[in-house]
Amino acid sequence: MFKNLFKNTTAGETEEVNLDPAKMPQHIAIIMDGNGRWAQRRGLPRVAGHKRGMEVVKDITKAASDLGVKVLTLYAFSTENWKRPESEVSFLMDLPVKFFDTFVPELIENNVRVNVMGYTEYLPKKTQKAVNDAIEQTKNNTGMVLNFALNYGSRAEIITGVKKIATEVQNGDLAVDEINEEVLSKSLMTEEVAPYNDPDLLIRTSGEERISNFLLWQIAYSELVFTDKLWPEYQPDDLVHDIYEFQQRDRRFGGVKDTKGGKSK
Ligand code: IPE
Ligand code: IPE
Ligand code: MG
Repeated sequence: MFKNLFKNTTAGETEEVNLDPAKMPQHIAIIMDGNGRWAQRRGLPRVAGHKRGMEVVKDITKAASDLGVKVLTLYAFSTENWKRPESEVSFLMDLPVKFFDTFVPELIENNVRVNVMGYTEYLPKKTQKAVNDAIEQTKNNTGMVLNFALNYGSRAEIITGVKKIATEVQNGDLAVDEINEEVLSKSLMTEEVAPYNDPDLLIRTSGEERISNFLLWQIAYSELVFTDKLWPEYQPDDLVHDIYEFQQRDRRFGGVKDTKGGKSK
């Protein structure tokens, strides 16, 4: 049993929770939101929130790895985030350079492998290099996969996947009748973190309760946890709290509750 502390939000007191190691989410995906608001509430420029958010990524990565999570997918930049002011976009594109510059040794120490999913070919060259170097330097690590969604959008991802499948059909390598959920799933970017393609738990910080074009296919049966905490103030204890919340849920996958406590059929 993992013993950890978290804040009891109703009473404002600290309470100890035991996470059940048998019910750990294997793939956790996080929509890291609220950086701008965190900064603005402190009278700081939005980018100060992104900078602080990067430090939080380090802490949460280590915490998730210690908890035995297999894949941690972090939404870092969406295909829609190019709409932001150029100065903010440019700051965000520099962050992976800063992040990997300082953090790769710790990733190696923790046996964490880096993966990046998204349309990385549209990122500035220096960002691509930082990302590719980190992937290369951590490729032999066998522990948790730290999977960044960078210039990622789920609708674009599905279209790319469908085009791949259509091409296979056109080339006579696949029959239309052979297209099924497995084929589509394998055509998506999360195939890079197989066999944990679909998140068990999706967390969004900052109080917004929407998906913002993230993993639309993959979250069909994920448990969703929305927390009011802003990403720059999200701590390992909050992760434990949100995993605890996940462990209280009854995942039925369309079946019925098994009162004997076994797997739902
Ligand atoms: C999330 O924080 C980081 C990115 C989307 C890159 P935001 O920058 O969206 O912060 P808010 O939502 O404006 O507070
Ligand atoms: C989603 O957050 C994208 C990332 C966290 C990278 P946004 O802040 O961009 O989403 P919206 O605009 O509030 O839906
Ligand atoms: Mg936001």
